Amino acid sequence: MELKITCIPGDGIGPEIVAEAKKVLNRVAEVYGHKMLFTDILMGGASIDVHGVPLTDEAIATAKAADAVLMGSIGGDTTTSPWYKLPPNLRPEAGLLAIRKALNLFANLRPAVLYDELAGACPLKEEISAAGFDMMIMRELTGGLYFGERKTVEENGVRKAIDTLTYDENEIRRIAIKGFDIAMKRRKKVTSVDKANVLDSSRLWRKVVEEVAENYPEVTLEHMLVDNCAMQLVKDPAQFDVILTENMFGDILSDEASMVTGSIGMLASASLNDSKFGLYEPSHGSAPDIAGKDIANPIATVLSASMMLRYSFDLDKEADAIDAAVKQVLKDGYRTGDIMPSGSDNMGCEKVGCSRMGDLLAERIQ
Ligand code: IPM
Ligand code: MG
Repeated sequence: MELKITCIPGDGIGPEIVAEAKKVLNRVAEVYGHKMLFTDILMGGASIDVHGVPLTDEAIATAKAADAVLMGSIGGDTTTSPWYKLPPNLRPEAGLLAIRKALNLFANLRPAVLYDELAGACPLKEEISAAGFDMMIMRELTGGLYFGERKTVEENGVRKAIDTLTYDENEIRRIAIKGFDIAMKRRKKVTSVDKANVLDSSRLWRKVVEEVAENYPEVTLEHMLVDNCAMQLVKDPAQFDVILTENMFGDILSDEASMVTGSIGMLASASLNDSKFGLYEPSHGSAPDIAGKDIANPIATVLSASMMLRYSFDLDKEADAIDAAVKQVLKDGYRTGDIMPSGSDNMGCEKVGCSRMGDLLAERIQ
């Protein structure tokens, strides 16, 4: 099979981790007889430096022409990078928001899994982490506060800023359907998270989610207020299967969930539209402080490539092979710095750099 993939190396550690994901994908191609056709585009700071804008129309067109997009990370140090002296619509993050909108990537999937081998990195008490957890955060990605009307005005000498939170029922329904579809392939439980005790948009969210649930009698639906959910994520993360929520809540809860795993360098994500097309990226950021040092953890990007094979290309066997290679490399005791156990003997683990980790993963694809 021919796989047309647009890559966005981006900023910070992005180029390093994307290079390792390509290495692993090329190995998959070799073993399983596929052809990977990669085209790189610029986005974020890398695009600002060349074109003066974080995303060009040509770059969007290239992304659209592919079957899927694989991204590293974008953005820099917000206090020191010159990119953050630019107006907000020209900063690196605006490129990411623009590509999400342009490609209609309304469904963001962020798995948060506690790996057995890394259970020691989980910051929760052992009596909680011992239960393990494996949840999928389904975040609505092209609506809500992020894309509502906003402005800053001055009224009678008083500065005032306005952001608006809008959802129509169609936007809610399509993400809810994706959430229930995914739940059907997992443990068949959806926790819909909202703030229905205060917000109208949440009350509509709840109603539409309940309507969608009628078509999924096998799935257990529960509603949870977002503040309670933030608490439950640290109190009893094992209770969650699919968490279904709007854009802003999903942004915050997915960072919390990833922190609870203790290994954000391991977490992948997918942003999907109505068809098979998707943009795949690690859940972590661009880590400018460690960029260019060959010490970043490429595993989240490699696992994003695995999600890409699974969701955009229906190559489940190949995706399984990548996931198995990640498990094996951990079992074999190789760790990048971020997941290296502390203690005098490092629990027998060997510390490796970004590029070597890519080699070790590629070797284990068969
Ligand atoms: C994320 C990021 C982005 C978001 C930023 C970089 C705009 O935090 O993907 O979660 O808020 O969506
Ligand atoms: Mg975020």
